[in-house]
Amino acid sequence: MSQNKETEIQLQYIEKCKELLAKSSTKRPTFHIQNEGCQMNSIQTESIAAIMEKMGYEMVDTEDADAVVFNTCTVRENANQKIYGHLGHLKSIKREHPDMKIVLFGCMMQEHHVVEKIRKDYKYVNLVFGTHNIHKFPELFYRTLQTDDQIIDIWKESDEIVEGMPTSRKYSFKTGVSVMFGCNNFCSYCIVPYVRGREKSREPQAIIREIEELVADGVTEIMLLGQNVNSYGKTLETPVTFAELLKEVEKIEGLKRIRFMTSHPKDLSDELIQTMAESRKICHHLHLPLQSGSSRVLKEMNRRYDKEKYLELVNKIRKAIPDISLTTDIMVGFPGETEEDFQETLDVVRKANYDTAFTFIYSKRSGTPAAGMENQVPEDAVKDRFSRLLTLVQEKGRENSSRFQGSVQEILVEDENREKGTLTGRTQHNLLVHFPGEKDLIGKYVKVSLDTCKGFYYFGHIVEE
Ligand code: SAH
Ligand code: SF4
Ligand code: F3S
Repeated sequence: MSQNKETEIQLQYIEKCKELLAKSSTKRPTFHIQNEGCQMNSIQTESIAAIMEKMGYEMVDTEDADAVVFNTCTVRENANQKIYGHLGHLKSIKREHPDMKIVLFGCMMQEHHVVEKIRKDYKYVNLVFGTHNIHKFPELFYRTLQTDDQIIDIWKESDEIVEGMPTSRKYSFKTGVSVMFGCNNFCSYCIVPYVRGREKSREPQAIIREIEELVADGVTEIMLLGQNVNSYGKTLETPVTFAELLKEVEKIEGLKRIRFMTSHPKDLSDELIQTMAESRKICHHLHLPLQSGSSRVLKEMNRRYDKEKYLELVNKIRKAIPDISLTTDIMVGFPGETEEDFQETLDVVRKANYDTAFTFIYSKRSGTPAAGMENQVPEDAVKDRFSRLLTLVQEKGRENSSRFQGSVQEILVEDENREKGTLTGRTQHNLLVHFPGEKDLIGKYVKVSLDTCKGFYYFGHIVEE
């Protein structure tokens, strides 16, 4: 079935839901939606929210709504536990409100044991679907509106990318755009390849068209998203590199800033570094997950680079783009990690000069190779390493972020702070800046002097509007 045909069918189901809902009540129904996980998940959550609104629902902040929808994540166990906690709470609300529809979808639902548990212990959940059939939501929801039975529809895989479904966004002037789905890397600790399936890239024309439409609608900053954007385009009928895609995106008139996430160090090409260095629009910020500084652990993790290669890459990037802001993800407590391995991680943190690092405690994910590894690290050793890592990351982050003190930077104004008359925006390096200003500047670019560094953010004042 062609993608357009599928989109058309689903758009018809949105209309059918709308008619059904209008017939059943004169009051406008409400829905509440929550997202866990990465930015790619958020885009899909926003799309489901846009569909619900088209059906006639009104979005509300509380869980006491006619429909409650959760987009789930399972990258670490704590994301998982959160959902079960919510479901317990929803049970009591549903007792008072029996017509309420509860919908669960996303990564966690691709795990067999989760679905079995919902089937058995959470019978009051109305609809469950996964990551491969999100485009079928209107059709599935139409069925849900007509029955009290639990509907579960999980696909193992799909090679289709459905374009053109409704979308919405939080900010009128900036948004994320997924360029690819899935992951082929199989890092030994990670569940994403199992729940998101094989890597699939969108056609460059579809991406460009979407960004052009967004720009025509007021967007000036976009974030291109994928689990490993550096391998974008490899599986397309006519292969395209990520750098080539970036060059096409750069040509879009009216677009001012381009960001992207995530870059896997093993695939970061010289072509990409050069493209970034020459570009007028690609922001000087790169998220380059390290995971571990120990070459031995990296090998066990199946990351396909070692400590030396990572540090060489960092040097190469800094040489080509001297003001680059580097950020990273680091994990502690991978099976078999020793104090010496951990010291290697600290060594890279000292040398790589990150502005920020997201730190995680290794979480055992069933079905991944690392879950079967024997020498799991004792909890107290992990906690101790985690706190030492955090201390160093924060100290180095403060030091590195302060390098812009006293300079004038262009800021995209994002929000008004709780304290009226003060605004928050970001530099191209993704640094937050607070400064006095009126809220009609939201969505605009202003030149701000970065007067005082407060660790991870700045206080400044506008020098030019
Ligand atoms: N595709 C991205 C990462 C996506 S998941 C990449 O390869 O860089 C985001 C982060 O979650 C990872 O970088 C990793 O640090 C962390 N993570 C993934 N699996 C994890 C696990 N099992 N336990 C703890 N952290 C994990
Ligand atoms: Fe997970 Fe590795 Fe893929 Fe990132 S690259 S999503 S860490 S398997
Ligand atoms: Fe989580 Fe799925 Fe993203 S597991 S991190 S929401 S791809």
